[in-house]
Amino acid sequence: MQSAYNAGEVMFAMPETDYEKAYLREKELRKQAEQLLEDRSRELFLANEQLKEANSSLHEQQKIAVQSEKMAALGVLAAGVAHEINNPLGYIYSNFSSLVEGLQDIQRFLHHMDGIIAQGDSLELLRDGWRNALLQFDIAYLLSDYQSLAMETIEGLERVKQIVADLKSFIRQEDGEKAPVDVNDCLRGALNILNNQTKYHAQVEVEYGDLPLIPGYFGKLNQVFINLIANANQAVPENGLIRIATRLVDGWIEVVIRDNGCGISEENMRQLFTPFFTTKPVGEGTGLGLSISHGMVQEHDGEIVVESQPGEGATFTVRLPVSAA
Ligand SMILES: Nc1ncnc2c1ncn2[C@@H]1O[C@H](COP(=O)(O)OP(=O)(O)OP(=O)(O)O)[C@@H](O)[C@H]1O
Ligand SMILES: [Mg+2]
Repeated sequence: MQSAYNAGEVMFAMPETDYEKAYLREKELRKQAEQLLEDRSRELFLANEQLKEANSSLHEQQKIAVQSEKMAALGVLAAGVAHEINNPLGYIYSNFSSLVEGLQDIQRFLHHMDGIIAQGDSLELLRDGWRNALLQFDIAYLLSDYQSLAMETIEGLERVKQIVADLKSFIRQEDGEKAPVDVNDCLRGALNILNNQTKYHAQVEVEYGDLPLIPGYFGKLNQVFINLIANANQAVPENGLIRIATRLVDGWIEVVIRDNGCGISEENMRQLFTPFFTTKPVGEGTGLGLSISHGMVQEHDGEIVVESQPGEGATFTVRLPVSAA
């Protein structure tokens, strides 16, 4: 028997014995198995590549979906916000018209008094002239009116300023570092943005608890609250009740949003966070609000807990850990 040692395997020049034949057969089988394995690995590799591609395209789609949900939400909000801004602008405009009219009265009063003083009458006559003119031009009323018009105007301007600030934080792109967030402020902003939708439809009661700042994305949490409150508002009947409370429980910030609306069936409960699941008519809901909110709360290591019975309203609790700070 000839044998040679070659690269770790035994080489036979000629198949001479049963043993050698068996060895060669086994070697051939092993080769086939290896080939098969290699083919399978290649297939797996290719399948894996395809999956990776599909996954990254899904991520892209998801990003687009999130953005378009934001744009859709913004579209709905824009109409309301335009109305919200228009309201204070309306009375600021009319207040200024009254202020201008009042200013003309004051000018006339001063001109009148100028005339009296120019006559150089006695102090007695001057005093009478002054008192009469005060009554004639209704100066006391003008001044008190001025005060309330100015206060109202400032309030209106502050309202507009607040709406613009809330919108800015809603639109803000936040891919960078988390920053300290006051969850109460975030909720306040969401309520301001939605005010126009809720005020004609539901009664909103809010109780703010003492909360520590947590690292997070203001705009994203803002959007979560907007989605949940908008859902509650859509679920309640005319004059429904939405109760919101924030509190700190065992190292978790909880934002509880409770409504006395239609509630959620057991079957729907299972699909609540599935993208595009909606029970609302076309054009009213895209079914993305909760799935997007879920993702955003997860980015804060938090969770959304839902409790509901059909016909008995729903409670959505956003829980955010403070310890992540
Ligand atoms: N507070 C609630 N009360 C009753 N049902 C709710 C409530 N919140 C959500 N739902 C149910 O969950 C579904 C999914 O909600 P989600 O916010 O994801 O989508 P949507 O409100 O239908 O549409 P979108 O938010 O994209 O405009 C709703 O269609 C509704 O059936
Ligand atoms: Mg929704």
